[in-house]
Amino acid sequence: MTIQEFQTVCSQLEQEYTAKIAAAADLNAVEELRVAALGRKGALTELLKNLKDFSIEDKKTAGPLGNALKAALTAALEDKTAALSAAALNEELNRVHLDLTLPGRPLARGKRHPLSIAQKRMTDILSSLGFTWAEGPWVEDERHNFDMLNIPLHHPARDAQDTFFAQTGSPLSMVLRTHTSNVQSRFMEKHQPPLRIMAPGRVFRNDSLDATHSPVFHQIEGLYVDENVSMADLKRDLSAFMKGLLGDKTEIRFRPSFFPFTEPSAEVDVKCVFCGGKGCNVCKGSGWIEMLGSGIVHPNVLKNCGINPEKYSGYAFGMGVERLAMMLVNINDIRTFYENDLRILKQF
Ligand code: PHE
Repeated sequence: MTIQEFQTVCSQLEQEYTAKIAAAADLNAVEELRVAALGRKGALTELLKNLKDFSIEDKKTAGPLGNALKAALTAALEDKTAALSAAALNEELNRVHLDLTLPGRPLARGKRHPLSIAQKRMTDILSSLGFTWAEGPWVEDERHNFDMLNIPLHHPARDAQDTFFAQTGSPLSMVLRTHTSNVQSRFMEKHQPPLRIMAPGRVFRNDSLDATHSPVFHQIEGLYVDENVSMADLKRDLSAFMKGLLGDKTEIRFRPSFFPFTEPSAEVDVKCVFCGGKGCNVCKGSGWIEMLGSGIVHPNVLKNCGINPEKYSGYAFGMGVERLAMMLVNINDIRTFYENDLRILKQF
């Protein structure tokens, strides 16, 4: 091949491939053309094989010509690729009709369980009254659940608690705590008065499940110990607590009762919030709803915890969360709280 022929073939190849590239219908066709023109066995490689037979002078002419051809074809391939990609994107956008004004998909939001709602309402009010949060273990030794609370081994109240016993391998006899009052003994053995705590939590009793009983339920304990604490303090604070929970007009009354760990003891009722005291099916005609147990901390309990009952006195109360939650959210079967039916949970 002469250098003139080389020049002719160069411009022929440029014309031929530029035209073919311009006419390519899709990206596959462009790729085939790239291989045919610039690939290892392509037209350019074939042409450049002639270089080795050229004189030095001719090589100086032919080399740049080959480079220019390669650059021209590479540019044409890139331009065509870009044009085809843009066209494909345009076509896609026309086809799917994106409506950028549509609102986004909402995030699924969780909700508080009705028992948590009730418990939070109670702890919010108690903390505004100066009570701080305290907790105790669910699996408890009998000493903290019973003995220190003045419920000795053969006390009939111990049977009345329908206790679940736990096999733990501990040398102590362990139970699932039957009330949050274990937090009283736990807290007082570690802290001297003045102290004011609330202890919300899960408790366990060997009851069968029905509309009003559950073997697992929740209580909130309140405990206030200082100098000169009396029934008057208890009544003032419980009255404020119940008004905060159920409204400013709420009335409470004390009924004499018995708990081994309080003396005197009182059951606290609220005037029925559904009928205003006239009597309805919620209060079973009595006009009052039983809300909690309470009393003045028994001197033996203080003594058992290392607090001097000559110097200090205190009040305590314990209240079921489920019972209050049933009133607050108008649920009349305690089992509803544990079934976690989403159709119900979504309503709160
Ligand atoms: N622990 C008692 C119960 O579970 C409630 C209570 C607590 C009563 C504190 C008096 C004082 O029934």
